[in-house]
Amino acid sequence: MCGIVGYIGHQEAYPIIINGLQRLEYRGYDSAGIALYDGTNIKLSKTKGKVSDLKNKIESEISTDGTLGIGHTRWATHGVPNDVNSHPHSSNSGDLVIIHNGIIENYDSLKKELIKRGYTFKSDTDTEVLINLIEDVQKSENLKLGKAVQIALNQVVGAYAIAVFDKKKPNEIVVAKLGSPLAIGIGDDEFFIASDASPFIEYTKNAIYLEDKEMAIIRRGKKIKVRKIENDTEVDPYIQELKLNLEQIEKGGYEHFMLKEIFEQPSAILDTFRGRLLSNEAIIKMVGVEDNMKKFLAADRIIIVACGTSWHAGLVAEYIFEDLARIPVEVEYASEFRYRNPVITEKDVVIAISQSGETADTLAAIKLAKSKGAFVFGVCNVVGSTIARETHAGAYTHAGPEIGVASTKAFTTQITVLTLIALRLARAKGTMSSSEFRHHLIELETIPGKVEEALKSDAYVETVSEIYKDSKNFLYLGRGFNFPVALEGALKLKEISYIHAEGYPAAEMKHGPIALIDEQMPVVVIATKKGHYEKVVSNIQEIKSRKGKIIGIVTKGDTSVKELADHVIEVPDTLECLSPLLTTIPLQLLSYHIAVMLNKNVDQPRNLAKSVTVE
Ligand code: G6P
Repeated sequence: MCGIVGYIGHQEAYPIIINGLQRLEYRGYDSAGIALYDGTNIKLSKTKGKVSDLKNKIESEISTDGTLGIGHTRWATHGVPNDVNSHPHSSNSGDLVIIHNGIIENYDSLKKELIKRGYTFKSDTDTEVLINLIEDVQKSENLKLGKAVQIALNQVVGAYAIAVFDKKKPNEIVVAKLGSPLAIGIGDDEFFIASDASPFIEYTKNAIYLEDKEMAIIRRGKKIKVRKIENDTEVDPYIQELKLNLEQIEKGGYEHFMLKEIFEQPSAILDTFRGRLLSNEAIIKMVGVEDNMKKFLAADRIIIVACGTSWHAGLVAEYIFEDLARIPVEVEYASEFRYRNPVITEKDVVIAISQSGETADTLAAIKLAKSKGAFVFGVCNVVGSTIARETHAGAYTHAGPEIGVASTKAFTTQITVLTLIALRLARAKGTMSSSEFRHHLIELETIPGKVEEALKSDAYVETVSEIYKDSKNFLYLGRGFNFPVALEGALKLKEISYIHAEGYPAAEMKHGPIALIDEQMPVVVIATKKGHYEKVVSNIQEIKSRKGKIIGIVTKGDTSVKELADHVIEVPDTLECLSPLLTTIPLQLLSYHIAVMLNKNVDQPRNLAKSVTVE
C-alpha cells in the first residue's frame, strides 16, 4: 500500500503535494517521489527513504514550479525500496507519468508481451508495466489518454488507485480505482487527488470518493467526468461534505502522534458514545443496529473478522457479547477466514472491525460472507472508507484520524462501540435486567474520566520503562476480558520497540511460557480486582518463585499484588467487562516510552504500515 497525491489548478503544485505526502506517510514510507509539469517539461525527482529525504533532495535536483503534479509515498510490494523502483514511473517515450497504490497481479505476463513489442523497463515494479501498457494502447490505436487508460485497465488483474498524466495534455489528469482508495477534492477551478482527504483538507471540504471500477477525467477548469471502467457508462458522482479538520491531523504539541492519540482516548471514547448512550432514558440509540435488529436477534452466532489490533478488539468483544447478550461469537483472522472455505449461512451475522476500513484481507472476508448470504456489519473509524461502504450496515467509532501506525485510540473506541452493541442486544434479548442495563450505561459513561485518571500513571510508567527498556523479551499475562489486552500489550511493544513479547492467558503460562521465566524476564500481569483475581495472584506467585520481574496492572488501592510485584501500576475500578478500556492504557504507555528510550521511530515503525491494502 502507498499514498498518492495529485494536483491540477492555478496554485503551485509542489507545496500541496509534498505536504500531502507527509500526511499520507502512514500508508508507507520506504520511498517517495514527485513529478511536476510546467506545461513544457516534466520534472521528476524520487528517492529511497521518507518524504523528508525527498524534500531535502528535490530542490537541488529540479525546479519545483508547475501547476500540475503527482506524488507518491511507497510501501514496497514489487521490487525493493530504491530510487529506481520509487514512483512516479514514466512510459518509454517519457510522455506518460503514473503513480499507483496497489498491485498488478498479472504484471509478469503483460511485461513479457510488452518486451516482445520492444518496450524496455528500468525498474522491477508492476507500475512501470502498467504505464507502458497504457502507452502501447494509446499509440497503437491513437487514442486519448482517458480511453487508453480504460482499455489498459480492462486487461489488468489486481488492485489500483492511479493518477496518470500525459505531456501532450497539460490540462488533464486521469485517475482510476479498484480496491485501493481514491478521493478527489473539488476546489475553485482546482482539483486535488489523494488516498484520503487529509492532503487537501485546508483547501476544500468537497470531495468525491471514487467507487471501485470507476475512473475520472480531471481537466483544469472543467467539470469532472466519472465513468465506469468496464463499460464506459457515465456516472453522476456524489460530492461529500468533509467533516475532518486540519487540527485533528496535526500533532497538537505532542512529540509523537502515538502519544497524542493515547491522550486523546478520554475524548475519543466520549465521542464514540455521544448521542448513542442515553443513560437518563436508559437507552442505546444506534441506527445501524436498530434497523437490523431482526437479523441480530435471529442470528445463530456472530462471526467477527479483523486483523491486527482490530482482531484483539474482536476478542474482547467475544467475551462481552457472550457474557452480556449470550450470543455465541467466533473471532477470526480475516486472512485465515477468507481462505478456509468457512461454513457461513444466512443465519450468521458477521461483524468486520477495521480502523482504516481499507484492510484488504478484512475486505475480502466481507465479500466472502456477503456471497454466502450473511448479514455484514462494519465497525470502522474512517468515514466513507471501502469497508464502511461494502458492509450492509455499521457503526463508526468516531475516534478521529489515527496517524500513529501503532493503533491506540482506535482499539479502545472499537471496544466501546462493540460494548454498546452488546448492551443493546442484551436488552433486546432480555439477557439483562433493566437495572443491570442501566448500571452498565452509567458505568460506561464514567469511562472517559477513568481513562483520564489512568493516564496520570504516565510519569511512573516512564520510570518503569527506563528499568526494563533493555530487556530482550517480555511476557504479558491476563485472564478473561483481559487476556486480549495482554495480546494487545505485547503487540504494541513488538511493533514499535522491536522487543520480542508474547501475550498469554495467565493460566496457560504453566503449559510452556513458564520455562522462559528467569531473573531477566519482565512479566506484565493484568490483575484487576474483578477478573479472576485470586487465580491471577496465584500465577504471580508462580512467576515470583522463578525470580521473574513482575509489573502488575492492578485496581486502585490493591495491596496483595503490591506485596508480590516489583512494580504496580494502578487503574481505577470498574465493571469487569469494561476493564480492558482501562488496563490497556498503561500498556500503551509502556510500549511508547520504551520505544522512545530506544530511539525507535514510534509513529512509523520499520516494515509496518497503517493501512494494509495488499494481501
Ligand atoms: C496494520 C496496522 C495495525 C492494524 C492492522 C489492521 O497492520 O499496522 O495497527 O491493527 O493493520 O488495520 P485496520 O485498519 O483494519 O484496523
